[in-house]
Amino acid sequence: MTHDTPRHFLRDDDLTPAEQAEVLDLAEALKKDRHGHRPLAGPKTVAVLFDKHSTRTRVSFAVGVAELGGHPLIIDAAGSQLGRGEPVEDTARVLSRQVAAIVWRTFGQERIDAMASASTVPVVNALTDEFHPCQILADLLTVRERLGGTAGHVLTYLGDGANNMAHSYLLGGATAGMHVRIAAPPAHHPDTLILNRAAQIAATTGGSVTVLTDPAVAAAGAHVLATDTWVSMGQAGKDERVAVLMPYQLNAETLALAAPGAVVLHCLPAYRGMEITAEVLDGPHSAVWDQAENRLHAQKALLQWLVGR
Ligand code: CP
Ligand code: NVA
Repeated sequence: MTHDTPRHFLRDDDLTPAEQAEVLDLAEALKKDRHGHRPLAGPKTVAVLFDKHSTRTRVSFAVGVAELGGHPLIIDAAGSQLGRGEPVEDTARVLSRQVAAIVWRTFGQERIDAMASASTVPVVNALTDEFHPCQILADLLTVRERLGGTAGHVLTYLGDGANNMAHSYLLGGATAGMHVRIAAPPAHHPDTLILNRAAQIAATTGGSVTVLTDPAVAAAGAHVLATDTWVSMGQAGKDERVAVLMPYQLNAETLALAAPGAVVLHCLPAYRGMEITAEVLDGPHSAVWDQAENRLHAQKALLQWLVGR
């Protein structure tokens, strides 16, 4: 691999199972010794661009880059020329000459693919309509902490099976050797190409992927229960979505079907009383605050791994 063909992290399967494990091992080490690693000292600058709202991603990249000794440059894309229609590829060429990595939250996956195609530095997906791979690294780190590992555990995701979180659980969970179950109404089942890719990965890791319409069958015996908002950023039709997704709410009844000691995950922001009840989100099975903190540690590891190559 030459200097001009950097590794990118655009979707969860951009890391092989061994590479994902390496990044998660590094995240555990960085979490234990939070201020002891400065691979971005110099400082190297990391550009973090947002086409959509964010709290956790913005803060964790800003704090993480600073803790690695680097300089985070946070850009609201609407205020940049990107927001006025400057080509993505031209933006990539300009940024690549000055920064060590580009992190971007945007809409369609084709936009971040275009950024990567013209970038000579690593590009990281900080959420697209299709995937949220940095979040899944944090979730897998949380599962490791709570359950001692990922492989062989059942992770059930309930709700919008066609959104970025569902797709990333399929790819990232399969990569981690998990048994990923997606419970969603038929109109909200995952993208077939992504599902097939996840099945292909699972066949090599000992994991599996299953799509179900019955939330009770999906929750039975699960070690991890996860959900996400029913209305992702940029999506319309809230009333219809709420009506069809209500049977998939993560509540005390769902939790009662899961394995004893099941871990509850939600990437946040959460809408209590919609996709998850307050009782479960704020209850003893919930790991959501560790999960949110783990964005920091997982992304520091990812940046160290990508930029330090
Ligand atoms: N989970 C997550 O990505 O949160 P933000 O939208 O606040 O960044
Ligand atoms: N699926 C949600 C995740 C937010 C972090 C969205 O895309 O809005």
